[in-house]
Amino acid sequence: MTDRPKLYEGKAKIIYPTDDPDVLLTYFKDDATAFNAQKRGQIGNKGRINCAISTHLFQLLEARGVPTHWIDTPSEREMRVRAVKIIPLEVVVRNLAAGSLCKQTGLPLGLALNPPLVEFYYKNDGLGDPLLTDERLRLLDLATPEQVIELKRLALEVDRYLTDFFADCGITLVDFKLEFGVDAQGLLLLADEISPDTCRLWDQAAEDETQRVLDKDRFRQDLGQVEEAYQRVLDRVLAHAASF
Ligand code: TMP
Repeated sequence: MTDRPKLYEGKAKIIYPTDDPDVLLTYFKDDATAFNAQKRGQIGNKGRINCAISTHLFQLLEARGVPTHWIDTPSEREMRVRAVKIIPLEVVVRNLAAGSLCKQTGLPLGLALNPPLVEFYYKNDGLGDPLLTDERLRLLDLATPEQVIELKRLALEVDRYLTDFFADCGITLVDFKLEFGVDAQGLLLLADEISPDTCRLWDQAAEDETQRVLDKDRFRQDLGQVEEAYQRVLDRVLAHAASF
């Protein structure tokens, strides 16, 4: 795989072209970064685990009528996806206060947010992925006003489906980040990945605040047992996948 010409290499994935211009191959790496790549490392088996979790979540969402880029998963670390032009926005949905929301507002960790908060960040590493106001979103013209409305609607729909599914797994979906793209036909598709790299997931059965973290915060905050936490998420997802 590594000898083939890459179309693009990101922090956690490599994108390869295929013989079909409408189809790309995504390879999931074990590389992990945080804080805009200031912290770098590897999480054992992360590529395999995230590819499997993303596969199941994309399948679940497709089954619920959410259009995604996922086509199939030909190997443990590879996903075939529809080629899309990624909209450079990170769409974050928050059900409980955590992460940058707590840091920037002083809200207490774990505060329930009703309704969920939907935020748009400018996907631009050079600028540090800044949070956008509605006016800045309009000014930058990264998506049409109609697309912005649709992105928000889809993000909240994804939130409802994933919150319910993770609850069945005994996991609280605290927050997550989505990326969307537009395919050759002009269709808006959910893209990228949905995994413990891109979600905050708390184990409802855990006894304390540190043990409950099943996501990349274990890496960000040096909490240890990162691979074990990711694997636990996968085990629960697989155990409940039959009920899609
Ligand atoms: P934040 O609290 O750091 O803003 O993160 C919100 C959610 O977005 C959290 O689930 C982690 C995810 N996320 C990414 O997937 N990529 C990123 O670059 C960042 C900053 C957050």
